[in-house]
Amino acid sequence: MVYSPREDSLLLEAAVKKFASGRFLDLGCGSGIQGIAAAKKGCSVTCADIDPEAVSEAKKAFSKRKLKADFVVGDLFENMEGAFDCIAFNPPYLPGGHGHADLDGGVDGLEVTRRFLEDVEKHLIEGGIILLVATSLCGQDAKLKELLAGKGFEASVAGEQRFSFERLSVLKAVK
Ligand SMILES: C[S@@+](CC[C@H](N)C(=O)[O-])C[C@H]1O[C@@H](n2cnc3c(N)ncnc32)[C@H](O)[C@@H]1O
Repeated sequence: MVYSPREDSLLLEAAVKKFASGRFLDLGCGSGIQGIAAAKKGCSVTCADIDPEAVSEAKKAFSKRKLKADFVVGDLFENMEGAFDCIAFNPPYLPGGHGHADLDGGVDGLEVTRRFLEDVEKHLIEGGIILLVATSLCGQDAKLKELLAGKGFEASVAGEQRFSFERLSVLKAVK
């Protein structure tokens, strides 16, 4: 089932509205919420997801709003061409390996995000912006800042929301 926008989606959407520009990639697009926010700002949008059903739903959401985008089915940057000014990713970030493809980020919640970080540079223009969702569970947001620093990115918190059991953050990373 395609991920319906939740608190994490809305937190990232607020950052997209603020920072998206130029060529924009909505990675793990789900319903297409991030791409739609960027398209409404005039960005040239690509929506991508590993789940063909998500891409198909995002396509419908764009068409309903008479907005344009390119659509790609693939694992992260698979089948992706060129570099982007801004990449937004609300990855599967929950630790614990509970098997839900939309949210399951493996043992520490960073499994997919680590693979993302391996390749992101090839798909980001110089000075481009990454917007990434992270949770405070397992100290993930702090770990992610370290991982980004290790790749030469400077990360800051572009938005956060506290719940009784976790804090969700959107990290904005620039080289
Ligand atoms: C938490 S949902 C976010 C959906 C939407 N972007 C939002 O903000 O509401 C994560 C999305 O990432 C997709 N996804 C998971 N692993 C992926 C991968 N390796 N490559 C591309 N997309 C992936 C899932 O199918 C899902 O649509």
